[in-house]
Amino acid sequence: METVLSGARPTGPVHLGNYFGAISNFVKMQEEYNCYYFIADYHSLTTHPEAKELNENVKLLLATYIACGVDPEKATLYIQSHVPEIPEMYLLFNMLAYKGELEKCPSFKDKVRSQKSSNKSINAGLLTYPVLMGVDILIHKANKVPVGKDQMAHLEMTRDFANRFNFMTDSTYFPEPEAFNFGNELLKVPSLDGSGKMSKSADNPNSTIFFSDEDSVILKKVKKAKTDGGPIMENQEKPEEIQNLFDLMALVSTDDTIAHFEETYNNCTVRYGDLKKQLGQDMVNFVAPIRERIKEVRADEDLLRRVVKIGDEKARESASKTLQGAKKLMGMNYFT
Ligand code: TYM
Repeated sequence: METVLSGARPTGPVHLGNYFGAISNFVKMQEEYNCYYFIADYHSLTTHPEAKELNENVKLLLATYIACGVDPEKATLYIQSHVPEIPEMYLLFNMLAYKGELEKCPSFKDKVRSQKSSNKSINAGLLTYPVLMGVDILIHKANKVPVGKDQMAHLEMTRDFANRFNFMTDSTYFPEPEAFNFGNELLKVPSLDGSGKMSKSADNPNSTIFFSDEDSVILKKVKKAKTDGGPIMENQEKPEEIQNLFDLMALVSTDDTIAHFEETYNNCTVRYGDLKKQLGQDMVNFVAPIRERIKEVRADEDLLRRVVKIGDEKARESASKTLQGAKKLMGMNYFT
């Protein structure tokens, strides 16, 4: 059976981008694969080193995975920092990664830009972020990695590191993992402000729908979404901000609703007010039950503790096996 691994950073409530880009696939994949899903708390420290929020954010993300349908009986759920084999293998892989390629990584360049604009220093962990991510994946010899489109470059680097290790040790020890989505393409859930992707760190908090948002907040955010003056020619191509609204509708609305607004757009009778009202309501219908379930699961500390205890143990068993094998191939089995 193929192995699947993925995770998210505990930097605050999960949003629709995280759900449709990654977590919804976690749920489907647990039926068919040997799945490991984790909480990337070390990764969150690269940009969110504040201790006071981390503790709650880790528990909230764990509750969110479960509330979204990840089943701890089917998938292994664990916390990155509870598996000491990960930082050990990260140290080894830091010797395989080149400063030049890390500096060229698009997510590094983006983060440098945003850290600079808020006058924050860039820590070394941010530079080596893709190394740690590669280790997260390779430590379970994962084949498939359900992620959104923004993680594509990281997956490419992971394959480079795996190949470099294999070449150096004249082995085929690590597989070449691939980014995965059940559709043919990786997903980019758009933001509500006309351009770019939905993101936790967006400058405009109205552009992202979080699973913590109350109904009235969701309706307000969608109402404020950017639109244009309306189509002036039949069947004209949609500008980005309008296409984004249709892309969002494709995630939460029924086929009938989508067909109706497509038709009114194409014959130039569309009323954006109606479209946004419907989209807002469909988002509320989608988010509200998951939001309430997150609250319930989060309140059950005993359940969370139990899930993590079992998951951590299983993850360590697999990680330790891979790490020992890698060290042996590197000649680090001195007196055995
Ligand atoms: P993070 O925490 O930023 O996001 C978690 C997951 O959500 C996806 N995502 C999106 N997908 C589609 N549209 C969007 N607008 C959108 N926004 C976020 C992300 O692609 C991701 O799959 N580096 C990772 C965490 C990580 C990881 C790993 C993931 C660390 N090690 C190993 C997979 C495997 C991150 O920052 O995700």
